[in-house]
Amino acid sequence: MPTDLTALSLSHEQAVAALAIQAEVRVVAMALDDLPAELDLLDAVERGRAARFATPQLQRRFIAAHAALRRLLAWASNDDPAALRISADAQGKPVLGDYPHLHFSLSHCAGRALVALGSAPLGVDIEAFIRRDTALLADQILGPAELCRWHSLPPEQQVRALTEAWTGKEALLKACGFGLRVDPVTLELGQGEHVLPGGGRWFLRPLACVPGHAAALAQALPVQPLGLFELKPDRAQGIRLHLLAPSAATA
Ligand SMILES: CC(C)(COP(=O)(O)OP(=O)(O)OC[C@H]1O[C@@H](n2cnc3c(N)ncnc32)[C@H](O)[C@@H]1OP(=O)(O)O)[C@@H](O)C(=O)NCCC(=O)NCCS
Repeated sequence: MPTDLTALSLSHEQAVAALAIQAEVRVVAMALDDLPAELDLLDAVERGRAARFATPQLQRRFIAAHAALRRLLAWASNDDPAALRISADAQGKPVLGDYPHLHFSLSHCAGRALVALGSAPLGVDIEAFIRRDTALLADQILGPAELCRWHSLPPEQQVRALTEAWTGKEALLKACGFGLRVDPVTLELGQGEHVLPGGGRWFLRPLACVPGHAAALAQALPVQPLGLFELKPDRAQGIRLHLLAPSAATA
């Protein structure tokens, strides 16, 4: 958690109220190894995917992430987490069948995960700072003009710039649902709106919510207020939501 944010612990009722989808977009950060791996919340498809992981640690993190996602969606919809029907749209983007107005996106990076919730399509991405093979990855991520600018940066700025570009592009490609079917090199990041395959205008904002990581949120709506939360283990109720910043805060 960034040192300039304080955490306010929320009761179940406060969490329902805080995540009820209104005009704000909510981003929830979590450390997966700290959270319970509630397999009983997952549906048959999720359990099947969980069973195919190569190591117990990867399996546990997947279960913890998807159980946490269900808990958050249940708070946001005031429904039962295990009963929620999560499916995929034509592009493979996860959707909530019974609550089409409730949009969400999940991203995980090793033991960290982010979930974004909102009233319009969105995409979130988190990555640990890329410190190895940066020149090779820059060739695979950045467009020609971006690559030129990146090479002109001092080495200590290249790591952050490359990771931020990567999370920005992935967030946009997750928001529109195409994912990495679109070559990120073809998507040059700008200041305002981005037009992506499939049409529509998309807006990007960096998120400074997990130390050592870059993260980004892409949204169909411009300049929505952002509420930043953290999900933590709780002895009494399994997990508990903590408000990290005032709901109008920006990254
Ligand atoms: C979506 C995608 C960009 C994820 O990239 P990633 O950095 O590895 O993973 P992240 O942790 O950030 O995101 C994964 C989550 O994105 C979501 N997701 C999956 N497909 C998605 C899509 N088409 N659009 C938006 N979100 C998607 C899921 O919630 C997934 O979590 P899960 O695997 O635990 O169910 C990538 O998997 C992709 O491009 N998928 C669609 C195209 C495809 O299948 N291509 C084959 C390989 S190129």
